[in-house]
Amino acid sequence: MLFRNRFVLLLALAALLAFVSLSLQFCECVAGLAGPGGGTDAAFVHASAQPLTQTAPPPGFGVLKAEGSTQRTFWEVDHVELLVLDEEARGERSEHAERQDKPRQLGGSGAGEELGPRLLLFEVGSWHLQLQLFVGPPEGQRDGPLLGDNQTVCFSLAGHAPHHFKLVSVHVFIRHGDRYPLYVIPKTKRPEIDCTLVANRKPYHPKLEAFVSHMSKGPGASFESPLHSLPLYPSHQLCEMGELTQTGVVQHLQNGQLLRDVYLKKHKLLPSDWSTKQLHLETTGKSRTLQSGLALLYGFLPDFDWKKIYFRHQPSALFCSGSCYCPLRNQYLEKEQRRQYLLRLKNMQLERTYEEMARIVDTSSKQLRAANPIDAMLCLFCHNVSFPCTRNGCVNMEHFKVIKRHQIEDERERQEKKLYLGYALLGAHPILNQTVGRMRRAAEGRKEELFALSSAHDVTLAPILSALGLTEARFPRFAARLIFELWQDREKPGEHSVRILYDGVDVTFHTSFCQDHHKRSPKPMCPLENFVRFVKRDMFVALGSGSTNYYDACHREGS
Ligand SMILES: *[C@@H]1O[C@H](CO)[C@@H](O)[C@H](O)[C@H]1NC(C)=O
Ligand SMILES: *[C@@H]1O[C@H](CO)[C@@H](O)[C@H](O)[C@H]1NC(C)=O
Ligand SMILES: *[C@@H]1O[C@H](CO)[C@@H](O)[C@H](O)[C@H]1NC(C)=O
Repeated sequence: MLFRNRFVLLLALAALLAFVSLSLQFCECVAGLAGPGGGTDAAFVHASAQPLTQTAPPPGFGVLKAEGSTQRTFWEVDHVELLVLDEEARGERSEHAERQDKPRQLGGSGAGEELGPRLLLFEVGSWHLQLQLFVGPPEGQRDGPLLGDNQTVCFSLAGHAPHHFKLVSVHVFIRHGDRYPLYVIPKTKRPEIDCTLVANRKPYHPKLEAFVSHMSKGPGASFESPLHSLPLYPSHQLCEMGELTQTGVVQHLQNGQLLRDVYLKKHKLLPSDWSTKQLHLETTGKSRTLQSGLALLYGFLPDFDWKKIYFRHQPSALFCSGSCYCPLRNQYLEKEQRRQYLLRLKNMQLERTYEEMARIVDTSSKQLRAANPIDAMLCLFCHNVSFPCTRNGCVNMEHFKVIKRHQIEDERERQEKKLYLGYALLGAHPILNQTVGRMRRAAEGRKEELFALSSAHDVTLAPILSALGLTEARFPRFAARLIFELWQDREKPGEHSVRILYDGVDVTFHTSFCQDHHKRSPKPMCPLENFVRFVKRDMFVALGSGSTNYYDACHREGS
């Protein structure tokens, strides 16, 4: 096989379809909620290559677009075939293709008819991928993400490396899964969303019942105080505020399974007699983060044994442990909040929208704004619950869009003004420093903390993404995952490299410390030293204050 001795087919096919992101405009919505469009006519969607542009993504990045279905209906992916050609083999076809039947994340079994699959050539940096996506008609009660017209399929390139690289350790940061809102829209009825876990409700995961039964037997000794007092899975018929939903649990069971296929089955990250020491698990003190972490582990671990699970508690959403005190970080945050406030004042349409919504629900616009209605509206939207109506009218999609547009505008200005970057660099340092510490120990050959999981929030992931320089990264959706993989080059055992993946997309060469590295080096990864240098020193240089360490940087007078 022409690629066998080169960049061998390490594309983790089991992980291929990480999720089908609904290309609704509001992508933090969960996959799988669009609902089947019905229809059983045989037809197929073919995937077409993303046009090649100058902004071609680095190796390992891929997006497929579906187009050309004969009718506006949703189709389920039946199986995927993929082959990778290395650079020299560009353009040649190989007979060989790896095939993944019914990618597990899609759930259910389907008799997807194969209908003249079309080939597509898909360029990712220096690699060519050919990918065939077979889709068939949905069955009546099928669960799981579906592919529709022009929806984007994002697939995971986790665990993808040339064959002479050995996976050493993996460090995963997740945002909790889909949850009930944190605030209600004032003076409206709480949305009726059921947070119990039930098999005959969508979205479903084959491990859901086993998860519940296992959790209901869970001993409290597996957690650092005060985590024991938290419920291990969501269970309220009317969700409590901020409670994880079934969707949220399923998202993390899926994440776990995906990571298991790649890191355990394929790369044998954990020895067969793995123990507590090999895992580093930490979570904030919210039930939704603990439960998300448990669901992920339940999908991930071959045998979920309570005796081997120990979750540490992180009181701060920045996971800053003993290094939380940082006055300059707070100054940046205050300035950033001031910027946000001023931008909002300038947006007359937003102001009018809040006033109109306030009139509808009969409250003051100040109160309404304070209740952060977009959070509640997003939840209603994702759960297909209609927006509230009163005799004064209805809150509607237009309101939602105005607020959402403002958020996007805010995000754009935030990037530009760089105040948030200052906050992010200081805020993300402690957690990145801990990660670097773990990576270095693993690189030295210590067999501990091979898999680290930090179950966290958007306010944890967003600063990390900013600090890494991933300016184009999307705001962390529910169940977002950011992964650092540490690899060892078997041909040069002293050399270790890092790959960084955000929601399955390889973003290594988008980071500020490894930008364009792949253009200078044939290695499809970033040297560990680059990452270490960044965390130990360059992060502070980027602040421009002349500091070279965290303590110093935190105690400088702000500019
Ligand atoms: C959303 O709700 C409407 C009515 O409330 C229903 O007709 C529709 O089928 C629902 N869609 C999905 C995907 O569940
Ligand atoms: C899908 O995309 C193609 C090309 O961008 C476009 O021509 C077509 O109208 C789109 N189909 C739908 C249903 O939006
Ligand atoms: C960074 O990690 C090192 C150990 O790896 C530790 O000694 C140091 O205190 C940490 N610094 C911060 C600011 O957390």
